[in-house]
Amino acid sequence: MTQIQQNIPLRQYNTLGIDAIARHFASFTSLDELSELIEENPIPGKAPLIVGGGSNILFKEDVNGLVLKNDIPGVEIVQEDADHVYVKAGAGENWHKFVQFCLQHNWAGVENLSLIPGCVGASPMQNIGAYGVEIKEVFAELEAWHVHDKRKQVFSAADCAFGYRESVFKRKYRNQFVILNVTFRLNKKPRFNTSYGAIEQELERMGVQQLSIQAISQAVINIRSSKLPDPAKIGNAGSFFKNPSVEADVYAQLKKVYPAIVAYPNADGTVKLAAGWLIEQAGWKGYRRGDAGVHEKQALVLVNYGNASGKEIYDLSEDVMRSVQAKFGVGLEREVNVV
Ligand code: FAD
Ligand code: EPU
Repeated sequence: MTQIQQNIPLRQYNTLGIDAIARHFASFTSLDELSELIEENPIPGKAPLIVGGGSNILFKEDVNGLVLKNDIPGVEIVQEDADHVYVKAGAGENWHKFVQFCLQHNWAGVENLSLIPGCVGASPMQNIGAYGVEIKEVFAELEAWHVHDKRKQVFSAADCAFGYRESVFKRKYRNQFVILNVTFRLNKKPRFNTSYGAIEQELERMGVQQLSIQAISQAVINIRSSKLPDPAKIGNAGSFFKNPSVEADVYAQLKKVYPAIVAYPNADGTVKLAAGWLIEQAGWKGYRRGDAGVHEKQALVLVNYGNASGKEIYDLSEDVMRSVQAKFGVGLEREVNVV
């Protein structure tokens, strides 16, 4: 039986290191514990806030409700055929540990997603992606608990409506479901994906002769470590904003004025702009105001040097958005979940 505690500091529960307070707080390791806690919610009717690793949350203020830390464990093979293995992982499992487990077994599909912080349960929330791969490519299904109707529901990939850093859980069903576990369809015969960014260069630098999922994972880890700040050393939530997409004619205009603009074509004819480039060109890279700042190596990452409040980080994000809008006429959208 888990206890609901009062007035718990959240600093250790979010990688930005924001010192907000949860009025009520508990953790759970099973559906039974979760449903008991929902029954005992001191503010009945108000949906609890679920946290995993807290690596994509900005606590703008204290949470005047119930915060529940998802610690559901477990990894098991649920199905296997000649080409695939279906692995079900508890929502509380650490994402990178899960990736390492797959690498140890030679199951391919998540190697490009190495070193993303957080838990398995949050991975479908924004369809995590990196280095040319998104979770939707290996997603089989998930089980989630509806907090008001108190029922379990299975979601297929189509049900999740995955998009770039998007799913139904981030929008339509926000705060309605608790993801309990996720089943991934991993490949026994790997299809290597090395076309993105600097992976090939890094593999060459590493002297890799025989391509493998383990080598790709290491290359991704090396690239990530060279540009993204380690949350254990400096508070951050990864990319604070999404890379915005614009119509092709808008891009053509921007390209005329800014020939060096960094952009990638989307399948639908629109063009995705590198927000880090826009923010850097607007003069923000390395900017610091009190303990809130824009990372010196990656302008898409906002950082907390120690004691920035959630409001200070939020206000800085507003200023960055305003300035990019004014300079380029492009609106940025936050990727981080603001609470
Ligand atoms: P949390 O921050 O705890 O939660 C995120 C959101 O999901 C919140 O709204 C929360 O309420 C909800 N939530 C969490 N768990 C559940 C659940 N079980 N059921 C229902 N709702 C839930 N992301 C990428 O996509 N690609 C990257 O390359 C990447 N790199 C990063 C690098 C760094 C250094 C950092 C700090 C972050 C990075 N991120 C990246 C963002 C983040 O790691 C991912 O979004 C991750 O999936 C968040 O997991 P979490 O457990 O920390 O989620
Ligand atoms: N750039 C700059 N200045 C900067 C940062 C970037 O000019 O300060 C330009 C560079 O030209 C660079 C390009 O932008 O080549 C792209 O930068 P990077 O490769 O670092 O990737 P990103 O677009 O900034 C995205 C994801 C990351 C993911 C990486 C790798 C989003 C919002 N972010 O970053 O995801 O790890 O690609 O795939 O899509 C996250 O979501 O939290 C996250 C870290």
